[in-house]
Amino acid sequence: MSNTDKVFAGSIPKLYDEYLVPMIFSVYADDIARRVAALSPSVLLEIAAGTGVVTRAVAAALPRGARYVATDLNEPMLAVAAQRQTDDDRITWRQADASALPFDDAAFDVVCCQFGAMFFPDRFKAYGEVKRVLKPNSTFVFNVWDRIEDNVLTHEATIALGKMFPDDPPRFMVRTPHGYYDKAVIRADLERAGFRDISIETRSEISRAPSPEYVAIALCQGTPLRSEIEARDAGKLQAATDLVAEAVRTRHGSGAVEGRIQAIVIEARR
Ligand SMILES: C[S@@+](CC[C@H](N)C(=O)[O-])C[C@H]1O[C@@H](n2cnc3c(N)ncnc32)[C@H](O)[C@@H]1O
Repeated sequence: MSNTDKVFAGSIPKLYDEYLVPMIFSVYADDIARRVAALSPSVLLEIAAGTGVVTRAVAAALPRGARYVATDLNEPMLAVAAQRQTDDDRITWRQADASALPFDDAAFDVVCCQFGAMFFPDRFKAYGEVKRVLKPNSTFVFNVWDRIEDNVLTHEATIALGKMFPDDPPRFMVRTPHGYYDKAVIRADLERAGFRDISIETRSEISRAPSPEYVAIALCQGTPLRSEIEARDAGKLQAATDLVAEAVRTRHGSGAVEGRIQAIVIEARR
């Protein structure tokens, strides 16, 4: 993982929330919320909560007396999340690295995490932390993206950018968000950290965006791919965005865009 892969700051959090969340994250947040609600937690922890799409979906499904701590490594993501969330005294926002959770042992009934595990540099350590803060017999619910070839628009954007920077193609999407999808590896990592009763399922959905330009802004400007493009040539961000929009337009037309997305959803018991 490169140093900028985990940095969601500057212009990224706002664009991430405005463009990328409705395009690919909301639909999976509803799935996580349904799974968490079925476990009826009284005290819940979310890690890598980002701009709070899961937090909003889960909070809507939790009873009045529940307590919900939502955390993320990057404060600027949580700032957007807190701003988006309607007043809710059940929710506490807190900056936290998944590899060093600032909570007591056995403090939570459920830990959930959406599309965060791929960013953890040491997953054994992070899963160990999740296990430590979970009560006995309680559940870790999380998801990761499947391989990039099963996530059509992101794949097309990555191919287009490779043509713009042939000597040093930006590989953020392949390396990190779509770099941890092998079910056997995920299962082994969880078992090594001491989890059991592990269920792993593939979930396909359709992502939707109003236009090719929207897709291009979401992917090139609302993610750490932005930093990778700017590191190659700071003046080429708009040209890169235009190129991706053109690639999407060529394949999907100039109107509303649809593309298959695919994730892996995991539940594991402590
Ligand atoms: C793709 S975003 C997912 C955010 C949110 N869960 C969602 O569904 O929109 C990945 C998130 O992981 C966070 N992150 C990266 N490394 C982390 C770490 N070591 N500990 C906690 N969060 C981390 C980033 O700040 C970012 O908000």
